[in-house]
Amino acid sequence: MCGIVGYVGPRPSQDILLAGLARLEYRGYDSAGVAVIDGEGSLGMRKKAGKLAVLRDSLADAPLPDGSTGIGHTRWATHGGPTDGNAHPHLADDDKLALIHNGIIENFSALREELLADGVVFRSETDTEVAAALLGREYAGNGGDLQLAFRSVVNRLEGAFTLLAMHQDHPGLVVGARRNSPLVIGLGEGENFLGSDVAAFIEHTRKALAIGQDQIVSITPDAVSVTDFAGTPVEPEPFDVSWDAAAAEKGGWSSFMAKEVAEQPEAVANTIRGRIQDGQVVIPELDGLDELFVGINRVIITACGTASYAALVGKYAIEQWARVAVDVELAHEFRYRDPVIGADTLVVSISQSGETMDTLMAVKYARERGARTLSVCNTQGATIPRESDAVVYTHAGPEVAVASTKAFSAQITALLLLGLHMGRVRGTVADASVDVAELAALPEKIAKVLESEQEHVTQLAGWMADTRSVLFLGRHVGYPIALEGALKLKEISYIHAEGFAAGELKHGPIALIEPGQPVFVLVPSPRHSALVHSKVVSNIQEIRARGARVIVIAEEGDAAVLPFADEVIHIPLAGAMFEPLLAVVPLQIFAMALATAKGLDVDQPRNLAKSVTVE
Ligand code: F6R
Repeated sequence: MCGIVGYVGPRPSQDILLAGLARLEYRGYDSAGVAVIDGEGSLGMRKKAGKLAVLRDSLADAPLPDGSTGIGHTRWATHGGPTDGNAHPHLADDDKLALIHNGIIENFSALREELLADGVVFRSETDTEVAAALLGREYAGNGGDLQLAFRSVVNRLEGAFTLLAMHQDHPGLVVGARRNSPLVIGLGEGENFLGSDVAAFIEHTRKALAIGQDQIVSITPDAVSVTDFAGTPVEPEPFDVSWDAAAAEKGGWSSFMAKEVAEQPEAVANTIRGRIQDGQVVIPELDGLDELFVGINRVIITACGTASYAALVGKYAIEQWARVAVDVELAHEFRYRDPVIGADTLVVSISQSGETMDTLMAVKYARERGARTLSVCNTQGATIPRESDAVVYTHAGPEVAVASTKAFSAQITALLLLGLHMGRVRGTVADASVDVAELAALPEKIAKVLESEQEHVTQLAGWMADTRSVLFLGRHVGYPIALEGALKLKEISYIHAEGFAAGELKHGPIALIEPGQPVFVLVPSPRHSALVHSKVVSNIQEIRARGARVIVIAEEGDAAVLPFADEVIHIPLAGAMFEPLLAVVPLQIFAMALATAKGLDVDQPRNLAKSVTVE
């Protein structure tokens, strides 16, 4: 949510800011704006409700005088609707100062009252304008020291925020700060960048610095300085960005989602790479951290949305291999109750973005309670890994489409690796060779599903474009995949969809079955458990008897399902824990094809943001 970009250097900043905002579009937004300080030292600003194209058109019609210091913003509305006036930047100090913000300033009402009493006139309904006005007042009051004024402002704000600001009397300087909201520095030659994430500046530099919690940064063309909120200098942590700009481009695909679905074999292969040694799983990032896994009596995996379904698969795998109890908790539920956790609990968080506020707060909460923390994350330099004792990165590459696909597969892969790693460390897996071979074979099998089922599933979705509701059933690790299949469908095709544990059917959901009701059923291999397989086949018979239209996802050669299925989607043979990575692919294709058949934008579904940085 909200994209932020800042630039100082020798080049005209406007195009750099707009290109950076375009790369941050995936975060979700409903208005956009830029401010630049021109060569004469005067500040120009333009902001518009709607997509970036609206802002671009406005700038083309009436250009701003361009300058080489600038800030840009895409806003996802929280306080105040998505209007031109509420869009960022917000101005203060007689429009000489511009400020942008991501997050929520929780004490904005009190600050607003204080400023109103001081005679400030507000032009928007946002919490952000309060920060801008406060900065203007501090700046005027301290004789024009922008950095000092900025520090004083951030110390008065409560809540979560990334702020960038600049003043026309200080061309060549952008100041920024972060608390529980993302901000990274991009280091160029004679120019420097700030961004919500590295995508904002990836086409200019892959050298970056991570900014810690409650830190303030100032960038000029030749220097970067970081302090804490008290003004004490701190050394930011350097990192190299492994993504390249091409990885974030559509590259000829009809949508980012189509590209990302197709990239799953690579995402899984990259996540496994370097983590198998001599037939064992060894995760180099966890070297020397065995104490995270021994002496624990419980693992809690916490995440939101799709990541929480990956977590459910992880529960089955970690329990089986590492023989420790695992619970999965939605991050926003975990944090607001009083969970029984302590030093013998390992809290694993999963987040593609590494910035999801609910998950971040759950990690912080777990740490405060003395738990050990480990994150599974796809984004280098993100906040959640920095707040955790250890991190296992997924290497899915940049995920741009709002609906998560390749990151989900990479998350499951990382959790399977983690389960086997923990099993080795805890002495509960003596020989992982069979599972390691299964892991290594996954990319090829996923590629096979993509190749063999793409056309079939797309056709199926075309036939079902008028469907008003679709149900998904699964057992064991098929259950989280049923939940994920339903989530994918609802978020991009706006069709009612629900996933159920197949065993739950008779306890209520079967009442939904009426003639013609489409139901996807994930059938586990009979080779894993003849009993579980037979139970699912019974469930299929029960819904079929009531007129459901049954679409089965089953392994090649499973003849038992054929008499009861209207459609069969085949997946290659795989071990029990590995099947989810194959079974989810047709469901992703189905959701995408159905949304496309309905003429919807699969990359940016309505009301959703890629990175949910507010609670
Ligand atoms: C659904 C989806 C979301 C995210 C969730 C967590 O397709 O993408 O449900 O999985 O918002 O996001 P991260 O993984 O960034 O913490």
